[in-house]
Amino acid sequence: AQTKNEIRIQKAASPVTINKHIYGHFAEHLGKGIYGGLFVGEDNNSIPHEKGVRKDVIEALKKLNIPNLRWPGGCFADTYHWKDGIGPKDKRPSIVNVWWGGVREDNSFGTHNFLDLCEALGAEPYLAANVGSGSVQDVADWVQYVNYESESPMSLLRKQNGREKPWNVKYWGVGNEAWGCGGNMTAEWYANIYRQYATFMTGWSNDAKVFRIASGAASDDYRWTEVLMRDIPTKMLEGVALHHYAVIDWNNKGPATGFTEEQYFSTMKETLKMEELVTKHSAIMDKYDPKKAVALIVDEWGGWYDVEPGTNPGFLYQQNTMRDAMIAGTTLNVFNNHAERVRMANLAQTVNVLQAVILTDKEKMLLTPTYHVMEMYKVHQDAQLLPVTLKSNDYTVKNEKLPAVSVSASVDNKGVSHISLVNIDLKNSQEISISLSDIAAKTVQGRILTSAQVTDHNTFENPEKIKPAPFKGAQLKNNVLTVKLPPVSVVVLELK
Ligand code: AHR
Repeated sequence: AQTKNEIRIQKAASPVTINKHIYGHFAEHLGKGIYGGLFVGEDNNSIPHEKGVRKDVIEALKKLNIPNLRWPGGCFADTYHWKDGIGPKDKRPSIVNVWWGGVREDNSFGTHNFLDLCEALGAEPYLAANVGSGSVQDVADWVQYVNYESESPMSLLRKQNGREKPWNVKYWGVGNEAWGCGGNMTAEWYANIYRQYATFMTGWSNDAKVFRIASGAASDDYRWTEVLMRDIPTKMLEGVALHHYAVIDWNNKGPATGFTEEQYFSTMKETLKMEELVTKHSAIMDKYDPKKAVALIVDEWGGWYDVEPGTNPGFLYQQNTMRDAMIAGTTLNVFNNHAERVRMANLAQTVNVLQAVILTDKEKMLLTPTYHVMEMYKVHQDAQLLPVTLKSNDYTVKNEKLPAVSVSASVDNKGVSHISLVNIDLKNSQEISISLSDIAAKTVQGRILTSAQVTDHNTFENPEKIKPAPFKGAQLKNNVLTVKLPPVSVVVLELK
């Protein structure tokens, strides 16, 4: 039987900011992520664009207050030679994208395109450097090319290519998945390689000190984090990454739509594992870095299913349903609640790949349920975390259970508090009593994202089937909020 769920929210003893970079995105040279998704080419006459990047996509991403964008991979990053993607386009070599479908990559979208796009979006670029098949010199040159203002071989080359001022790129990945597609290295080997690369990445920035992110563990590979933290001096390390996808079974991922309740439950179980992963990786980091100088950067996360029937298996194109909204809402709550250590995250991937926020089909574009969650949650960006305690009902399927409710809360610099709530239960609504203790509030209003079926999704024929609506199910009395969350819903409340 369902009882009332209980939440208590109170001000933090010592304030923690929810870094806006937790709401970051990731765009790899993969399938129709860049080509045909973000980038349609400077000569395109049928789709409105700004320097080749779709205007509708730029506008949609701006509305998310997109804080950062990671590029060019992923696995692709460790095959990418950035010098192939600068200078006159007709002189750029074509390569084969060996990781993703074996297709031709003509290098027409390169460093300038990406960094100019970040400027147009008002987002910080996060460049993933090639450690797996590149060289220390190449990476040092890339830093010099994009960040050095005065005269040097690379800054002169940049100027020749039309960009006078440096872009001052702060965030740098030192390789990607070094334990796998980034070189199949051992943790010990990679820790040494990291130290070597990281040494030569400094010294080229005028304002921005580079923020170096070590290629991190796969899900629960705690040993990886342990070795990195043990073997890399913290003064050489600004962030350690972590990748975790909500995958049911790598050999049988199941469909993106039309899945069963058991499959949904398995996805949510893998999703909610993020709480344990972040807690345990953070505990290891605490051992070596008790002052929390090094950030935990979850630079790949999201749901991963079988590709849509009839599409290239190497392109990872999947639809996005209310299940993905549940993944996004609960995962972002985990990140918010762990904001002390988790200071950046990147949803995989922005357009047309994996858990995308945007899907495109030629001139058409649609916003997925995941997009709407990101947009609703943007109120938490750079706000102060309000710690929560939660007593939740169970969501039970075949004798297995998960907490039905997920929550996080923050207060912004205008004193407005926001509470984001998720009910992952497919059948039961959740009555929640929220005690606001020392949070003063007179009024409550909110928005909800929900749909009749968890498999519901937006299509190019019906792109607005799922979108946020005003929420009327919250009452405030004597500093206690009573909320009724329908099944499969995400709600964000605003308290003033
Ligand atoms: O996001 C797709 C791939 O997943 C990335 O290229 C890689 O880093 C991860 O294995």
